[in-house]
Amino acid sequence: MPATLSVKPDYGVDAPAVMRNLFLIGALCLLIAVFGPHIITLGQVSILPKPMFGWTAGFLLVEGFLFLFYVKVGKFYHRDKMLSLHTWRGDELVLDVGCGRGLLLAGAAKLIPDGHATGIDVWSNVDMGGNSAEATHHNLKLEGVESRTTLLSESAAEMTFPDATFDVIVSNLCLHNIYDRPTRLRALHEIVRVLKPGGTALISDYKHTGEYAAEFVDCGLAVTKKRGDPITTFPPLTIVIARKS
Ligand SMILES: C[S@@+](CC[C@H](N)C(=O)[O-])C[C@H]1O[C@@H](n2cnc3c(N)ncnc32)[C@H](O)[C@@H]1O
Repeated sequence: MPATLSVKPDYGVDAPAVMRNLFLIGALCLLIAVFGPHIITLGQVSILPKPMFGWTAGFLLVEGFLFLFYVKVGKFYHRDKMLSLHTWRGDELVLDVGCGRGLLLAGAAKLIPDGHATGIDVWSNVDMGGNSAEATHHNLKLEGVESRTTLLSESAAEMTFPDATFDVIVSNLCLHNIYDRPTRLRALHEIVRVLKPGGTALISDYKHTGEYAAEFVDCGLAVTKKRGDPITTFPPLTIVIARKS
């Protein structure tokens, strides 16, 4: 086993640079607020840096701790909430779009003893720390779901699956990472295409969820939205629930 792989499933840190910057800049602002000058005079203008940097530090550090809480605790509650939005038969074919280190993929696989779950990802280390097919495969093994899961390296916007392949499609915090709108819409159309009639897509994100919902409605799906728990999800997440008739 490579030295970097843990003995317990490790679902990684989402957007590690964002987390690092919140704490780093927050700590810097705090230092200036505590040890900086009381007043700075630039010509005719006087600035009071302590309150300004104090508030900024407070804001960034609170955000940092909320994000850390989501990464270490909240995302497991959010996974369970997402998966509870489907009534499981146990034989579904599931797709996790942007599965990262397998949080939803492993969770779904445990609910389908007679089914199969496939995860696709482009393994970006900017979007997820320590992201790789190998790390995810290791988690799936530790969770005991290796035999009913498959990992594929492919993009949400260019899936190779035939039309109407999956009963359930899940995705958490993936699609906002596709920055250009046409490609994001292509990914949504791919989700609609590979979803079976009668199937359900559960797409969770912190932004663009209005766009996802509108596009699914345009594609003829029945759509509702549900907010993630405000305490355990940071940034606040919304789940788009789309059913294909
Ligand atoms: C913030 S992580 C979330 C991972 C996982 N869904 C979770 O909730 O733990 C976002 C994931 O989306 C993946 N991703 C980004 N763009 C993608 C794309 N175009 N197609 C597939 N996956 C993508 C990244 O590699 C990363 O693993």
